[in-house]
Amino acid sequence: LLLTMENLDEILKFGKALAEKAGEEIKTAFLQEKKIETKAGCADLVTETDKKVECMIIDEIKKTYPHHQFIGEESVAGGLKCNLTDAPTWIVDPVDGTTNFVHRYPYVAVCLGFCVNKIPVLGVVYNAISGEMFAAIKGKGAFCNERKIQVSKETDLKKSLIMAEFGSARDPERLDFVLNNLRSIISTPVHSIHCMGSAALNICAVASGQAEAYVEFGIHCWDYCAASVILEEAGGLALDTTCTPLDLMARRILAACNMDIAQGLSSRLTHIELPRD
Ligand code: IPD
Ligand code: CA
Ligand code: CA
Ligand code: CA
Repeated sequence: LLLTMENLDEILKFGKALAEKAGEEIKTAFLQEKKIETKAGCADLVTETDKKVECMIIDEIKKTYPHHQFIGEESVAGGLKCNLTDAPTWIVDPVDGTTNFVHRYPYVAVCLGFCVNKIPVLGVVYNAISGEMFAAIKGKGAFCNERKIQVSKETDLKKSLIMAEFGSARDPERLDFVLNNLRSIISTPVHSIHCMGSAALNICAVASGQAEAYVEFGIHCWDYCAASVILEEAGGLALDTTCTPLDLMARRILAACNMDIAQGLSSRLTHIELPRD
């Protein structure tokens, strides 16, 4: 199926409006009492809002683009297969930063990635609390609230701000792995490591030139699909942690402003294989 640029412009308009609508729901619920459940572990949280917003997003996609496919975090949690085909497919994270949402930490985003032939071609990441709308179409630049964004020009890892996360796994082996990598990054040294609690907004921070890199193992396609398009269109690199091309289903990413930073960071990491999405 061939999509013209015109189609993608139209789809981006739809995606932004949809993210805004989802954002309203999130913003309304943000300060209210929440019903919180856990999924795979004690730090893997989900709220009513995550589920409600995902249902709304998928309903709207089905209404407007009945031939489009979708993958959504909470649908997959509910038993739907995470199956990316060549068909036009939305990859949806209704609330990226659920832990932040639960704690009222204002770093919470709606993520809408769109793939054709398994390639991410469009991304929308909307910080529902700050109102920052990050958006990109492959080949057309990246924008935050219509202002063009660009990655940092820093090439020295020692002068870099690195985004990383603990993730939600709490088994000792996995924690050792994460802590060893963090230790290895900070002893380079670097200016700092920030754990802000949203994979997508971390990637957008790299895209905006606010941080030089972001790395995480154990995330999912819905955490990085949309933001990877934004990063690449801002001049950055969305790579596998080994600096090879990004694999959307491999559950790991190294996002960087340039190859010097990417290689420097990658060489300091231990890399694990994870069960694929
Ligand atoms: C999580 C966030 C977090 C990252 C986790 C993700 P969620 O997404 O992006 O920063 O460390 O690995 O699962 O569950 O809040 O959508
Ligand atoms: Ca989650
Ligand atoms: Ca997420
Ligand atoms: Ca989520």
